[in-house]
Amino acid sequence: MGRRALRKIDPNIDLTGHLKTFEQLPRPWDVAALFGREGPLEVEVGSAKGLFLRGAAADRPEVNFLGIEVARKYAEFIAVSLAKRSLSNAKIVSADALQIFHELIPSNSLAAVHVYFPDPWWKKRHRKRRVMRESFLRDVERTLLPGGSLHFWTDVEEYFRTTLELLPTCTTLIGPLPVPETPAENDMAYRTHFERRVRKANEPVYRSEFKKAEHTDKIA
Ligand SMILES: C[S@@+](CC[C@H](N)C(=O)[O-])C[C@H]1O[C@@H](n2cnc3c(N)ncnc32)[C@H](O)[C@@H]1O
Repeated sequence: MGRRALRKIDPNIDLTGHLKTFEQLPRPWDVAALFGREGPLEVEVGSAKGLFLRGAAADRPEVNFLGIEVARKYAEFIAVSLAKRSLSNAKIVSADALQIFHELIPSNSLAAVHVYFPDPWWKKRHRKRRVMRESFLRDVERTLLPGGSLHFWTDVEEYFRTTLELLPTCTTLIGPLPVPETPAENDMAYRTHFERRVRKANEPVYRSEFKKAEHTDKIA
């Protein structure tokens, strides 16, 4: 699916509280330093226009949400929408999520990881660029807290199937747990912009959730 042009960003909006670069993330990792408070942290990979981030942050104010979006323009767009709504429990980083997971996020620290409609990289020779690759899935398992969840949705049946086949070969995450489709009561009641576009086109959405066991000896 193609992308519509983004609205121009008002240069007078202060984005410093919502938009971060890779270099600006705290080292060592420190949720309180990033959000100005402690609390559970959920991370979304590939936030694009940020519908999930702003909906989830508004619905669950007790949770901190960090979106990671590699495209700077989209990250700025999200930061504007978070700043306009004064959502202090959500931030967006303009960076490569795979690098942040591998280099910065500590083991047993995330309540949930969300990956919605990642780029499918249709051509076989490009599939190694997919986010849902072995090294990332290992990092997801390592960084999730015991009992934490991985949410993976896509409209690409082949990507869904190959990821569900890959997961048990490189992680001990439990699933896939069934995720029922909920009716959308209004135009914003979809989890992400892509979900809205796919469902309005009457195409199927493949949804899964995986859980890290409550007690695990495998990962310290
Ligand atoms: C197809 S869009 C889906 C966006 C959104 N999740 C949704 O469902 O509406 C995938 C997004 O992931 C971003 N992306 C791809 N690889 C990434 C990476 N390694 N780190 C962070 N973002 C990435 C892309 O720039 C793009 O905005």
